[in-house]
Amino acid sequence: MNDIKIRVRQLDKYYGKDERRVHALAGINLDIAAGEFVTLVGASGCGKSTLLRTIGGLEEYADGDILCNGRMVDGPGAERAMVFQSYSLYPWLTVSENIRFSRRLQHNRDNLTSSDVEIASGRADALIRLMGLSHVAASYPAELSGGMQQRVAIARALMGRPDVLLMDEPFGALDAQTREVMHDLIRHVYLLEKTTVVFVTHDVEEALYLGQRVVVMAPRPGRIDSIVDVPFGTEREQDLKLSPEFNQIKRQILERIRETSGIKTDLEQLARLTRAA
Ligand SMILES: Nc1ncnc2c1ncn2[C@@H]1O[C@H](COP(=O)(O)OP(=O)(O)O)[C@@H](O)[C@H]1O
Ligand SMILES: [Mg+2]
Repeated sequence: MNDIKIRVRQLDKYYGKDERRVHALAGINLDIAAGEFVTLVGASGCGKSTLLRTIGGLEEYADGDILCNGRMVDGPGAERAMVFQSYSLYPWLTVSENIRFSRRLQHNRDNLTSSDVEIASGRADALIRLMGLSHVAASYPAELSGGMQQRVAIARALMGRPDVLLMDEPFGALDAQTREVMHDLIRHVYLLEKTTVVFVTHDVEEALYLGQRVVVMAPRPGRIDSIVDVPFGTEREQDLKLSPEFNQIKRQILERIRETSGIKTDLEQLARLTRAA
């Protein structure tokens, strides 16, 4: 693989101590190429968020290596922007101000020249248009729907032109229709901005529709079960989800998740109980 953006090697991570110790990540190896859209999918508790947050520099790790652009990750960095399920906007700032007031700009506030501010302002305007936020640019977050708030959060994350966008179930709180719109929007943004995206979800359909590769994770300990190369090109439309090929791969992934997470046993027991009743 040429031009590796993120490299994870033999990553192990534990939470807690003694009998409360949780093996959250076990022997994770993963290379993500520049410009790739990778999705991490798996049952709740399999370590998706932990892996993403560790790549983001929000979690410490003792065993293994994480490299971004060939440099060891030892904390958050402007080249890795994160978007979470909760929108985490500043409620007292307008949409436009929220986007302009990116963390990176905040850091450099005292050293900014007027041309820096002009460039940033042009970038913010472009992102407002790209994300379809022009008509709400002067509104406050509380006045917006969840989908619109998440657009603001994504625009703000893109403001500093990150190399990597790390997203943790960013559309998890949205209704199904809004999610479809957001899926096509994020794909459009990704193709235009040419960022690398690592996207966490528990929704197999979402993982498959968005990703070029789907990393299927399994719990106890949190690990990579398998990696699926998605055979669909960059141009994707909602109808793809109805195709037999899409549904065949979706079924395979679901089967892996059910088998590795114990859901299958639960379902079989439930079926036996129902039959017995
Ligand atoms: N801050 C924490 N302290 C203790 N245990 C944690 C913490 N965060 C996550 N865990 C545990 O680590 C495992 C993986 O969690 P997580 O990465 O959140 O999984 P996922 O995002 O796939 O649902 C789970 O068993 C979870 O309970
Ligand atoms: Mg999670």
